[in-house]
Amino acid sequence: MAAVTHKPSLPACFAHRGAAAEFPENTLPAFRRALELGADGIELDVRLVHQRLLVIHDETLDRTTSGTGSVYARSLASLRRLDAGGGARIPYLEEVIELVGGRLMLNIEIKDDGAAAMLPATISRALRRGMLEPSGVIISSFNTNHVRRLRNELPGIALAPIFSHQRQDLLKIARELHASALHIHHCLAQPELIAAAHAAQLAVRVYTVNTVQMYERLRNLKVDAVFTDDPRRLITAMRRRRR
Ligand code: G3P
Ligand code: CA
Repeated sequence: MAAVTHKPSLPACFAHRGAAAEFPENTLPAFRRALELGADGIELDVRLVHQRLLVIHDETLDRTTSGTGSVYARSLASLRRLDAGGGARIPYLEEVIELVGGRLMLNIEIKDDGAAAMLPATISRALRRGMLEPSGVIISSFNTNHVRRLRNELPGIALAPIFSHQRQDLLKIARELHASALHIHHCLAQPELIAAAHAAQLAVRVYTVNTVQMYERLRNLKVDAVFTDDPRRLITAMRRRRR
């Protein structure tokens, strides 16, 4: 299995929900495109539905699929018949791991309690089978209880709480959780917080960064990674900068 590599001088580029600007979000074509583009990683969202980890952001089907209503209200077979865009299905997490595992970083964002409960077994199995490397996985959640649970059940895997709003105790929470990073909305990406996080040995990854201008600002602030819907745009800008 190829090692996951990084370009240390620039923020790593994570394709947010895959290359969602070009392909339907959270689908295999979007993740395949991230690979083709040479993204450093992908970010995806998981929910546990009928004991399977499905890659889908919303709790309802309406925005991203041909279905309607709650994702939890339908059988697995009927969910898998839905069109998640361009004829793609809602993928299982295992399918994404098969596609990208070991070839780029995988940031799995937990979206419900069931996914937090199921994820340790799924990740452990993929690690045992050599489909993932421990250093190639980051697990994140807005819910600190999810992160705490994973800290206990998946030692050795990088964890990150996600914050969308300013609060005084971001760093304290991250340290208590034994997280290795903060994942923050771009409105929180201020020099003081980034410097304090780095001083506390915490990486800083910022979402969702879709313009070159915002990317350049964050690069100057020395953030460790950005999540972008448009990896093509940012990777093109990065390459231009290296010339
Ligand atoms: O993980 C960063 C980002 O994806 C969190 O927000 O709503 O896009 O899942 P959301
Ligand atoms: Ca997400």
